[in-house]
Amino acid sequence: MASNDKTPAAPRYHDGAAFFDMGEHTLRVPMSLHAENRERLCKRIKNRNVPSGSVVLLQGGEDTTRYSSDMENVFRQESYFHWAFGVLEPGWYGAVDVDTGRTVLFCPRLPQEYAVWMGRIVQPEEYRARYQVDEVCFVDQIPEILRGMTTGNLLTLRGTNTDSGKTTREAAFEGISQFQVDNSIFHDEIAECRVTKTKAELEVLRFASRVSAAAHRAVMRKIRPGMKEYQLEAIFQHHSYYHGGCRHQAYTNICGSGCNAAVLHYGHAGAPNAKTVGDGDICLFDMGAEYYCYTSDITCSFPANGKFTEDQKAIYNAVLNASRAVMAAIRPGVSWVEMHRVAYKAMLEKLKEANIVQGDIDEMMKVNLGSVFQPHGLGHLLGLDVHDVGGYLEGNPSRPEEAGFRSLRTARVLEENMVLTIEPGCYFIDHLLDQALANPEQAQFLVPEAIARMRGFGGVRIEDDIVVTANGMEDLTGGSIPRTVEAIEEHMAQGQREEEMFIPQLHAQEKLGH
Ligand code: GLY
Repeated sequence: MASNDKTPAAPRYHDGAAFFDMGEHTLRVPMSLHAENRERLCKRIKNRNVPSGSVVLLQGGEDTTRYSSDMENVFRQESYFHWAFGVLEPGWYGAVDVDTGRTVLFCPRLPQEYAVWMGRIVQPEEYRARYQVDEVCFVDQIPEILRGMTTGNLLTLRGTNTDSGKTTREAAFEGISQFQVDNSIFHDEIAECRVTKTKAELEVLRFASRVSAAAHRAVMRKIRPGMKEYQLEAIFQHHSYYHGGCRHQAYTNICGSGCNAAVLHYGHAGAPNAKTVGDGDICLFDMGAEYYCYTSDITCSFPANGKFTEDQKAIYNAVLNASRAVMAAIRPGVSWVEMHRVAYKAMLEKLKEANIVQGDIDEMMKVNLGSVFQPHGLGHLLGLDVHDVGGYLEGNPSRPEEAGFRSLRTARVLEENMVLTIEPGCYFIDHLLDQALANPEQAQFLVPEAIARMRGFGGVRIEDDIVVTANGMEDLTGGSIPRTVEAIEEHMAQGQREEEMFIPQLHAQEKLGH
């Protein structure tokens, strides 16, 4: 009987070099990415003057099932744990000696029958080579091993995610009461580390963005009026998994066509991308694949039939103007709140040219007219979470209060190696238009006939993933998404031509009985 003892499992390792990939056609990620992350973390924590002999302890994610059934959800590692260790399995802990960087991982001790249902039980020594750490022990050895590691504090992770309002899971194990635990330092230090990315992390984020860009291009080539929105979602998922090895999507895909394009988080269970795409609809598809837990978040807006109407072109170009104005202004030292303002102003200028708003742009800015059309923030930090951590850490600007601005997930001053989305949008949302028309300060700038005509239009969002560089920014997709009206129409026309060539070939094959 053939043995499956040598079944390779990701991350793969040979010749002393451990890496993760999903096959030759995908990105090879070295485990040294995590060693570098831990080194940065220890350096920051040392600056907080913790007692010598302190150890940070993280608890990884656990398997979950579908409610009370035994049907397991596909496991995805908790992001802080992944950042520090790259461990892909559930039920682990990890400890790092702050003074020396010595790293010990703890894996669950699995029963023999695990091998029957789940495959070969990997031993600690093999995991040690796989994850390139100093030692791997079992979870039930945690108290004993930690007693030998720490003479100072056990630093655990406790903090609030400012996007979700949820508290991080603080490590806990039987016997923790024997230790001196400090949960006041670790969270802000590790979150701050995650705000700026290393070269190795940027490589992974580039890969995830490029996979998503290619999948969006495939959707734009294959869309036809009459398809269901979810069929376009399926093309994206297939493309990013089949070609990019991305098993997970970074968030629930938003595939809004026509009026659904104005629903900011469309695609949820109550509105599951199930409308039929109409001829003449604008489409707003916000989808991002995730590779090795590193996320992407890209939105493309385009006409379902491949040809922009005059109104679609005007709104699209207003949003593109906002996007490009922000891209031209971004560099270290600028405030993200100011970038949001730049986006509003650039959008309003084009809406005025299109005769949708009227009057003086500076006066419109004073009454925050931009928030009527774009009620969300300009963008957010991106990394292991799509709304990445660190947006409002202590010592940074607090959340603004005005409409639109208050939805910003960070108000920080930009730094080199921060990764963000730039996602201006313009939507025609009835209740926001009604509120603005009822407010004389804002109503004076709206052209009533144009606003009436645009109701039901939907919306446009253009979302790119970028990294702040020393002098400006880099588009992580390498500019591989068609963004101008002309480039989009050409790309979609090419998709339609591909189908014309493909259909006669299919007919020929049918005649030959294939
Ligand atoms: N692109 C989805 C989100 O930012 O929530």
